[in-house]
Amino acid sequence: MTASRTPIAILISGRGSNMATLVAASQAADCPYRVVLVAANDPDAGGIALAQAAGIPTFAHSHKGLKRADFDALLDTAIRAAGAERIALAGYMRLLSPGFIAGWQGRIVNIHPSLLPLYKGLDTHARAIAAGDAEAGCSVHVVTPELDDGPVLAQARVPILQGDDADTLAARVLVAEHRLYPQALAEWVRA
Ligand code: GRF
Repeated sequence: MTASRTPIAILISGRGSNMATLVAASQAADCPYRVVLVAANDPDAGGIALAQAAGIPTFAHSHKGLKRADFDALLDTAIRAAGAERIALAGYMRLLSPGFIAGWQGRIVNIHPSLLPLYKGLDTHARAIAAGDAEAGCSVHVVTPELDDGPVLAQARVPILQGDDADTLAARVLVAEHRLYPQALAEWVRA
């Protein structure tokens, strides 16, 4: 029943393909979450139009000109007003302030395009290739104040193929992200 599903907010900064897969998965009868808000720190984020087309309420404001804590306070107000109980970061490219994370302790997850604890931060695919790794992948983890550092809930692996560059590898990892995130989010919500 829709009313008993856990309400979640999804935070994005860009195209929102992971967000779209979470929204699509939430349409299934047995999905334990429903998406009550898609929020972006960039009003031009492509994912905002996708969310609107899916009929999901959105919050889209630039963080520019605002202190991190002030922007995060606006975000926090919007998320709570929407009734969300948990938060999924999906390509949200801004560090959240410690105060924001403290207010949602243990209730935020993120998807990161590497096999954590390897390659926290940016340029994960190029770094995996440069290191000569045979495999890359993605991780869903609980968000803590340290960047990409919280407990890992689930991972998916893909091979790194000869001739890969950061773009071809990113595309392969993204397919794995789209499979992993809806499953991992559902399991985390059910737990
Ligand atoms: C994904 O690779 C995600 O893991 C990373 O940023 C990318 C976002 O892609 N943090 P999208 O906006 O979900 O399409």
